[in-house]
Amino acid sequence: MKTRLNISGYYKQLICWLVVLRVCGCDEVCDRRPLGTKTEPLPPDNRFQIEILDIYNNQYIPNKNYTVRLFSMDGVSTFIAFTISARGDTKPNERNHRKPIPLSPGQIRPYPDSHAVWSSICENTVIQKDVTAKTSVQVEWRAPPKDQKCVTIYVVLAVVPDVWYNYEGPLSKQVCEDRRNMEDMQPMENGNCEVCEDAQYLLTFEGIWSCHTHPLLFPKHELAASPHFSDVVGASHNKNYNVFKVYSDASEALKMLAEQGNTTKLEMEMINLVGVSVRTVIKASGQPRPNMVTHSIFRVSREHHLVSLVTAIIPSPDWFLGVSNMELCEVNTNKWATNLTLNLYPLDAGTDSGIKFDSPNEDTMPPKPISSAVINKSVSKEQFKPFARLHFNLMRTYPTIDCETSTTVYEFTDNEEKPEVSIHYVPSEISPTTAPPPTEEFSPDPDTSEECPMTAWEEWEPCAGECIDNVYIGYKTRSRYYLVDGVAVGKDLDGPDVEVPEECFNKYSDHETAPCEEECEEEETVIRYSN
Ligand SMILES: *[C@@H]1O[C@H](CO)[C@@H](O)[C@H](O)[C@H]1NC(C)=O
Ligand SMILES: *[C@@H]1O[C@H](CO)[C@@H](O)[C@H](O)[C@H]1NC(C)=O
Ligand SMILES: *[C@@H]1O[C@H](CO)[C@@H](O)[C@H](O)[C@H]1NC(C)=O
Ligand SMILES: *[C@@H]1O[C@H](CO)[C@@H](O)[C@H](O)[C@H]1NC(C)=O
Repeated sequence: MKTRLNISGYYKQLICWLVVLRVCGCDEVCDRRPLGTKTEPLPPDNRFQIEILDIYNNQYIPNKNYTVRLFSMDGVSTFIAFTISARGDTKPNERNHRKPIPLSPGQIRPYPDSHAVWSSICENTVIQKDVTAKTSVQVEWRAPPKDQKCVTIYVVLAVVPDVWYNYEGPLSKQVCEDRRNMEDMQPMENGNCEVCEDAQYLLTFEGIWSCHTHPLLFPKHELAASPHFSDVVGASHNKNYNVFKVYSDASEALKMLAEQGNTTKLEMEMINLVGVSVRTVIKASGQPRPNMVTHSIFRVSREHHLVSLVTAIIPSPDWFLGVSNMELCEVNTNKWATNLTLNLYPLDAGTDSGIKFDSPNEDTMPPKPISSAVINKSVSKEQFKPFARLHFNLMRTYPTIDCETSTTVYEFTDNEEKPEVSIHYVPSEISPTTAPPPTEEFSPDPDTSEECPMTAWEEWEPCAGECIDNVYIGYKTRSRYYLVDGVAVGKDLDGPDVEVPEECFNKYSDHETAPCEEECEEEETVIRYSN
C-alpha cells in the first residue's frame, strides 16, 4: 500500500514538472516587461500605437516584408524602452485535442542602423538599442508563408523606468492572411506618383488557354475558327483615360473589339489621345494559338504611369481579357515597379447575349455592364484558371528635366521631351487557318529527356520593340511543343486530344524569350507628334 502511494506521489510530481515545463515554453521564460520592472503597467490609453504600413483590411500577403511602426500619437510623447514581438495562431491537433499545433507568426527583425536590436532572451522579438527618449521606431516583419492564419504583433513599452504599458489596446494588432492569389491582384493605384524618371517596360502577354489547361472552358473542336486571342492593344496613360471599367458599360470601341476582335476603333481612340492622356499606344500581335506569348515595349512617365490592355477571345460572343489602370508607379516607394505579373480572367463586355463560344450574334439591348464572363455555368469561378498572364518588366529608365541628378548614362536620351507612339505591326501571317497538316511527323529534340520529349524549337518570332534609329531593340520568342505519343500537343488545334503529364509541364517550358535587335523602318512604324 505504502509503496503504491509513494509511486503515485512520484508520478504526480513528475507530471506536475512536465506540465510546468510545457507551460514554460520560451514565452513564459522570456520576460517581456521592459527594463526588468516590477511595477504594474499603466491602464491602456491611446498615447502610443503600432501600425503595419502598407497593409489593407488587416490582411497580410504571405512572405511579404512589412514595416511595423511604433509611435506616439501626439508626436511629442516619448518612450525609452520597448519590446516588439509576433505571436502566431494555432490549428487543431487531430491526435491531441488539448495541444493545438502552433503556426508561424513570421519573423520580426530590426532594421540595420535603427533604434532596435534583437532581444537576447526572447525569440522573434526586437527591443530598444539604448534607452534614449524616442517618439517612434520601425522594425521589419516578414509575414509567414501561406496557411498560417492570423498573427498578432504586440508591443510592451516603457515611458520612463517603471512606468510602462502592456500589450493592450492600440499596442497590439492582429492581421490575417489575405487568401487571394497575389497575381490576381492589381497593385494599389498611386494617386500621387512622384517618380522623376521616365521608364520603358517590356510587356509579355502569355496566353495559357488550351483544351489541356481548360477542358471545360475551351471551344469544342468542330468550330470554324481556331481559338486564339486577338492583337493585344492598350496604352500607357494618366488617370483621365479609361479603356474600360468593370460594372460600367463598354465603349463602342471595346464592344467592337470584344465582339469582332477588331482593334481598329480602339487604336484610333487611343492614338487621338496621345500627348494628352495617353503616352504610348501599345500593340502586341495576336498569335495563331491561345497558348503562345507575344511582346511589346512601351513607355511610362510620372504623369502617364497607368497601363490598360485588352484582347478579344476568339471565337466568343463578346468575351475579352484585359486590365484597366494597372499601376506601375509603386505606392510605397514611388519608384517604377521592376517586375509585375497579373493573371487575366475572361470578362463579358455585356453587349452580346450569346452564351457559348459559337453563339450567333445577338445584341444585348440595352447593354449590360462589364462583368466576369460565365463561360460554362457548371464551372464555378473559383475553379477558373487564368486564361493569360501579363508580365511587366522594367527595362530602363530615362532622366527627364525633373531629375536633378542622374549619374547613369542612358541610351536614347536624344529624343526626350518628344514622346512617340510606337506601333509595331508584325507582318501578319497569323491566319489561324494555316495550321500544318496533322500528318506531320515530329522527332523529339535530343536535348530533351525520353520521359518528356519536346519538339525542336521553331523559328524565332519577329523582334518586338520600339523602332529607334531604324533598329528594334526588344525581345523575341520562340516555341516548341510537348510530344505525347508522337503528337505535338497544341500545335494543331484539330489534332487528337491528349494530356501532357504534369511533370513535363514543370520540367520544360514550351517557349523562351531572348533580347534582339532587328532593322526596322522608323517612318512606317513610329508616329511622332510634336508638343
Ligand atoms: C524580405 O527581407 C529579407 C531579408 O531582409 C529578404 O531576404 C527577402 O528577400 C525579402 N523579401 C521580399 C519579398 O522582399
Ligand atoms: C461545362 O462543364 C461541364 C462539367 O462541369 C461539362 O460536362 C461540359 O462539357 C462543359 N461545357 C463545355 C461547353 O465545355
Ligand atoms: C475593323 O473595322 C474597321 C472599321 O472600323 C474596318 O475598316 C476594318 O476593315 C475592320 N477590320 C477587319 C479586319 O475586319
Ligand atoms: C525581373 O524580370 C527579369 C526578366 O524576366 C529577370 O531577369 C529579373 O531577375 C527579375 N527581377 C526580379 C527582382 O524578380
